Amino acid sequence: MDTLRLAPMMGYTSAPFRLLIHLLAPKVQLYSEMISVNAVIHNPQLHYFSRFDEENNTVFQLGGDHPENSAKIAKKAEQTGFNEININCGCPSNRVQNANFGACLMQQPEKVANIIQAIQKVVNIPVSVKHRLGIDKHIDYEFVHHFVNTIHQAGCRRIIVHARNAWLAGLSPRLNRKAPPLKPEFVYQLKQDFPTLNICINGEINSLDKIKHYLSQSQKYPNTSLDGVMIGRKAWDNPYLFTHAERILAYRQILPKPQEVIEHYFQLLRENYTWLNPIWNTHTLIRPLTHLFNGMNGAKNWRIAVSTPYNSLAEAEKNLNNLAKAMPPPI
Ligand SMILES: Cc1cc2nc3c(=O)[nH]c(=O)nc-3n(C[C@H](O)[C@H](O)[C@H](O)COP(=O)(O)O)c2cc1C
Repeated sequence: MDTLRLAPMMGYTSAPFRLLIHLLAPKVQLYSEMISVNAVIHNPQLHYFSRFDEENNTVFQLGGDHPENSAKIAKKAEQTGFNEININCGCPSNRVQNANFGACLMQQPEKVANIIQAIQKVVNIPVSVKHRLGIDKHIDYEFVHHFVNTIHQAGCRRIIVHARNAWLAGLSPRLNRKAPPLKPEFVYQLKQDFPTLNICINGEINSLDKIKHYLSQSQKYPNTSLDGVMIGRKAWDNPYLFTHAERILAYRQILPKPQEVIEHYFQLLRENYTWLNPIWNTHTLIRPLTHLFNGMNGAKNWRIAVSTPYNSLAEAEKNLNNLAKAMPPPI
């Protein structure tokens, strides 16, 4: 099931946050942070591939422009238990542009096709692409249509479209998630033109209403429905959004109680501490819990408690477990 997806976010969607989302909403497809192919080739540390066994539907996102090296990393990701490989064609940062990957690959669809085919030769899991609508001056639909057509012909069957352009010159990655206008109509048009392609939309989907809207039949494009919605920033700010989304999609009736989620989260941290400990300290392990209760009574106290410096994971567990008992159940 992949109707709901957690967007890849560097500095956020590492294994601990993905675990939390999995406990809150087990049907959500999870995406790793982007892992640079060059970084792994030059420094092949195992932590790049870290994941919990409980995450049973996690996509490994890679960023690179070298087909054979990308294939090597993809193979390793498959062996480590990831369920899909995703190629980043949406990141606009200077560092990424200088290394010729991310959004600038949209100008080189043949190169992306080569990467897809090199990966497909060595793995048995799906290979998807996350991309924008265009870059800089390429604002016409034909640009993205040509890109998608090329990767589709190369065997890609799943795309995630961040429904805005990337502006590569003079705009920070942060502004690139805000300033270029959203054009969801292009995504519907893609679905009409490539009906067999699995198409997920991304970009400022930050409420249950928007989730419902994008997952319903389009009024404007008859017989066209998108296959999924991907949520980024709002997932960090309000992780329970996914739980509520699972309820409206009828995947579940009963929402997990805060206390149960916290207990289970800490139990899994403890059980996995041997491999977690060299990568994350106590603060970074509990940081994903920061906004768990946003919008609920007691949210501020909770945030303060999460950001308190603890001497050990056991101390954090004791304190946060006690506090979670007093939190109201989700409505
Ligand atoms: C802090 C941060 C880091 C991000 N890192 C990545 C990344 O590693 N790979 C990627 O494809 N997109 C990355 N993105 C973009 C998101 O995946 C997503 O496309 C974007 O935030 C728009 O979705 P939203 O409006 O739901 O946040 C990042 C976004 C944020 C806020």
